[in-house]
Amino acid sequence: MVYRWGVIGAGRFAENVFVPALLQCQGSKLAAVMARDKKKAEAFAGKYKIPRFYDSATDLCKDSEVDVVYISSPTFLHCEHTALAARYGKHVFCEKPMAVTPEECDRMIDACEKNRVTLMVGHNMRYHKVHQSLREMVSSGQVGRVGIARAEIITSFQKNQGARFTTDQFRLNRGLGGGGVLFDMGIHAIDVLRFVLNDEIEEVTAFSQNLFIPCNGEDTISLVLKFRKGAYGAVTTSGALPHARNGIEIYGEKGALVTDGSVWMAVRSADIHVLTNGQWETRRGEKNNCYVAEIEDFLGCVGSGARPKVGGEEGKKNIQVVLQCYRSMDEKRTLRIEA
Ligand SMILES: NC(=O)c1ccc[n+]([C@@H]2O[C@H](COP(=O)([O-])OP(=O)(O)OC[C@H]3O[C@@H](n4cnc5c(N)ncnc54)[C@H](OP(=O)(O)O)[C@@H]3O)[C@@H](O)[C@H]2O)c1
Repeated sequence: MVYRWGVIGAGRFAENVFVPALLQCQGSKLAAVMARDKKKAEAFAGKYKIPRFYDSATDLCKDSEVDVVYISSPTFLHCEHTALAARYGKHVFCEKPMAVTPEECDRMIDACEKNRVTLMVGHNMRYHKVHQSLREMVSSGQVGRVGIARAEIITSFQKNQGARFTTDQFRLNRGLGGGGVLFDMGIHAIDVLRFVLNDEIEEVTAFSQNLFIPCNGEDTISLVLKFRKGAYGAVTTSGALPHARNGIEIYGEKGALVTDGSVWMAVRSADIHVLTNGQWETRRGEKNNCYVAEIEDFLGCVGSGARPKVGGEEGKKNIQVVLQCYRSMDEKRTLRIEA
């Protein structure tokens, strides 16, 4: 079976990361692309030899030669685009963050269930083999009961985007992106800690400020988390700092697990530094393309009808945590996440 993909949102991520990964997946081909500007859609189609291009998401979703829609639009459009694709019977792979509110997440889940199509959210950090190994090591009791878990995801948008950098882009705008760097990137760190610990976040406290970029979202944020099984967590994220390790640190009663550069699109290192019996050793890990892995997992679910492990409910849990973090920051207090 070959699945024919339609792409909504011909942006930087789709062009440079997701579509190249898609082309590596067996059983996938590109059928259509949509951008608000038809010339942009045409240029994207030309680059990847995509037969049809549109300037309307509805037209792309109506295309009978599209089976699966990849949604890579700004966050405030994810719900509208998912509902549209589901209405026309297309399976949906929606980029993170799933949506701007939990109510939108519910509408997306309902639309996909009602139309019997598969919905998956692009929480790609779960597909790095190094994070899957960390999860196995934690669950096998390698470090005993976990007390502290930290994840960092930091970059400089200005450095990465060069001349294209503007302070009004959706990821720095509460109206378009839901918030600032927490919505855009911190959500990866929240999701990967939930995944590695196989636990849920019960309480949050957030501290944030615009330290460097004048925008109406935040450019830098720090979170303190409490997990249900008792561990404390910390997430630090910024879109304004050019130097970072972007790793995970897990400290348990019997030892520690540390990664370096794993919380990113491509891992800098897949090694895990393991502390047991007072000795550090480095376990060599395998680097993989997490986007290829997530797409293959998604298509497996489309084919079998199984529920994706990172379906709408998982995407919604991350949105609930993120929104409580913003409330905590605004109200300057610790808040619970309702189960
Ligand atoms: N999983 C990951 O590792 C990862 C990494 C980066 C990004 N992402 C996600 O991928 C998605 C796209 O991100 P990106 O970096 O590609 O963003 P981007 O290049 O800034 O924008 C993506 C598209 O959004 C459209 N757009 C921008 N502002 C808009 C507005 N005000 N109204 C309507 N459409 C607007 C543009 O569409 P037109 O083509 O119509 O102009 C653009 O092509 C987001 O959900 C982001 O969170 C995921």
